[in-house]
Amino acid sequence: MKKIKLIIGFVVAFLITTIFIQSCASAKEVIANKSGAQLWGENCIRCHNTPSPVDFNDKQWKTIGLHMQDRANLTKDEAGKIVAFLQSAN
Ligand code: HEC
Repeated sequence: MKKIKLIIGFVVAFLITTIFIQSCASAKEVIANKSGAQLWGENCIRCHNTPSPVDFNDKQWKTIGLHMQDRANLTKDEAGKIVAFLQSAN
């Protein structure tokens, strides 16, 4: 009887670990799959109104992107996507 409980315990622990690892992997994928427009809409509004792409030219967006990457704690990849979106839409 003790052995069965032990085996069930192992199976449950294994399943929980597997589900946990899987959910982490898919959460990462979701972030990686986000478009520049999506990241812009979700992040830039946290501190101020979302700036319109037409407010600045391409060169200005590049500088602002670097500055706000720092402020918003974005990865280089995310900031790059946002800047590319803003530059393509102005
Ligand atoms: C953590 C807060 C925070 C987040 C998130 C944030 N900003 Fe800002 N932003 C600021 C602050 C503070 C200022 C004004 C002071 C400064 O320039 O540092 C500012 C200023 C600006 C300005 C004004 C520059 C000017 O000369 O008028 C622009 C444009 C801008 N942010 C764009 C963005 C974009 C695009 C994003 C999304 C990637 C973003 N911000 C995300 C805090 C933030």
